[in-house]
Amino acid sequence: MEKIILKDIPDLDKISVYESNGGYAAWKKVLSQMKPEEVIEEVKKSGLRGRGGACFPTGLKWSFMPKGNEKPKYLCCNGDESEPGSFKDREIFEKNPHQFIEGALIAAYSMGIKAVYVYIRGEYWKWINIMEECVSDAYKNGYIGKNILGSGYSVEMYVHKGAGAYICGEESSLMNSLEGKRGYPRVKPPFPAAVGVWGNPTTINNIETLANVPEIINKGAEWFSKIGEPKHPGTLLFGVSGHVNKPGVYELPTGIPLMTLINDYCGGVKNGKDFKMIIPGGSSMPPLTKEESLTMKMDAESLKAVGSAIGTAGVMVMNEDTDIVHVLQRITKFYYHESCGQCTPCREGCGWMLKVLNRIMDGTGRHSDLDLLISVAENIEGNTICALGDAAAWPVKWTIRKFRKEFEAKIKEDKTGLPAVNKVHGLRKSEEYMTISDHTEQVKVEKLMGKVQELTQNEDVKRFSS
Ligand SMILES: Cc1cc2nc3c(=O)[nH]c(=O)nc-3n(C[C@H](O)[C@H](O)[C@H](O)COP(=O)(O)O)c2cc1C
Ligand code: SF4
Repeated sequence: MEKIILKDIPDLDKISVYESNGGYAAWKKVLSQMKPEEVIEEVKKSGLRGRGGACFPTGLKWSFMPKGNEKPKYLCCNGDESEPGSFKDREIFEKNPHQFIEGALIAAYSMGIKAVYVYIRGEYWKWINIMEECVSDAYKNGYIGKNILGSGYSVEMYVHKGAGAYICGEESSLMNSLEGKRGYPRVKPPFPAAVGVWGNPTTINNIETLANVPEIINKGAEWFSKIGEPKHPGTLLFGVSGHVNKPGVYELPTGIPLMTLINDYCGGVKNGKDFKMIIPGGSSMPPLTKEESLTMKMDAESLKAVGSAIGTAGVMVMNEDTDIVHVLQRITKFYYHESCGQCTPCREGCGWMLKVLNRIMDGTGRHSDLDLLISVAENIEGNTICALGDAAAWPVKWTIRKFRKEFEAKIKEDKTGLPAVNKVHGLRKSEEYMTISDHTEQVKVEKLMGKVQELTQNEDVKRFSS
């Protein structure tokens, strides 16, 4: 299969190798032969959709940017990549960084942008160093800067280090972080195309999205639109992790059967085991059961049809021995930790979900906890400023719905003896409006009382106290 981004060319990260393999030809073509609106039209026709998680049509997004130069305009390239299970953008920085730079320059030109920021998570110093060197080489060879290749068009590119936060990958939070503020997501509207970085029109694109653009210009929108699934064309960089023999990043056309990816490319499940759950697009995406996985095609529409999503194409494979409750507890702990705390449903709800999952793992869970968890998740979903709330709620809601038996088996018997509660602050006959933390406290007290009772029955203790 022909690769669009992760081509098998040694040393492609060097600008001379990139140039001798056709690199920056698309940039030259755009500058010398195409009007900005023609570039946007070509990207629209290609059907390219964002690779940052939401699958938004890229050409359409670019067309939202206001025309004219009354205000400065910005492009932010999103290299925060912090979703558990996602590790594909750093592969581009390492293996084909100039194709991303070229794509970002073409995008900037099409929207009349004069400044491009490459935002990379702070801990990713290795890729930050690579990008700083590559951007500097592109400046030296005349592809970035003033009056590029005599075209009259000028653009600057800056590599910006984040401070290391998942939330800074969310586009409006990224813009705040870039401005030197705390990485708090902004309320939308206004959308970034109207009010973005420093109050000016801004477009935010994922690294992989932009890395596709030069080949669309070189080979044409029609060529690109015929790769993979028509409604979600092109290739995806599938980052496969978990219980497979050959984890890694595989560039394959959209629509590839999930089983082909797992068995033919990743060498199947480790140690000859079976699998029971696959998360298809990073930890926030609803998981797939084995039955769903067997016939699943890996593209936006196919996954949507079973209530999941392609997300960042970070595929996490769990074998038959995996403790699904533990997996969900760990995922929830991540979102609880990463919540910025601005919205009550996300800030409190993530903590509540974690507490309830903790008690199920501790052996003090109750059968009503499962409906309680779904209720908390549904109260977070759609009620927050940004989609981190949804990202935390979806795994809880869908993992319980699809793997309820695993949770019931953990609970087995209701050891607490507490009456059922089925709402967030559910009314119970005897204890009105008891919160989840009250429950946890009550369970602790009851455990303690049990211990005291045990001790008072102990003969040695009795003798000592008399
Ligand atoms: C909590 C959260 C974290 C995100 N993290 C990233 C990220 O690390 N990289 C990324 O490209 N998009 C991330 N996104 C999506 C961005 O907000 C945005 O949709 C994306 O960068 C747009 O690029 P695209 O249209 O090219 O996909 C995140 C979204 C949310 C809600
Ligand atoms: S949903 Fe969560 S992360 Fe997003 S703004 Fe609200 S509190 Fe912050």
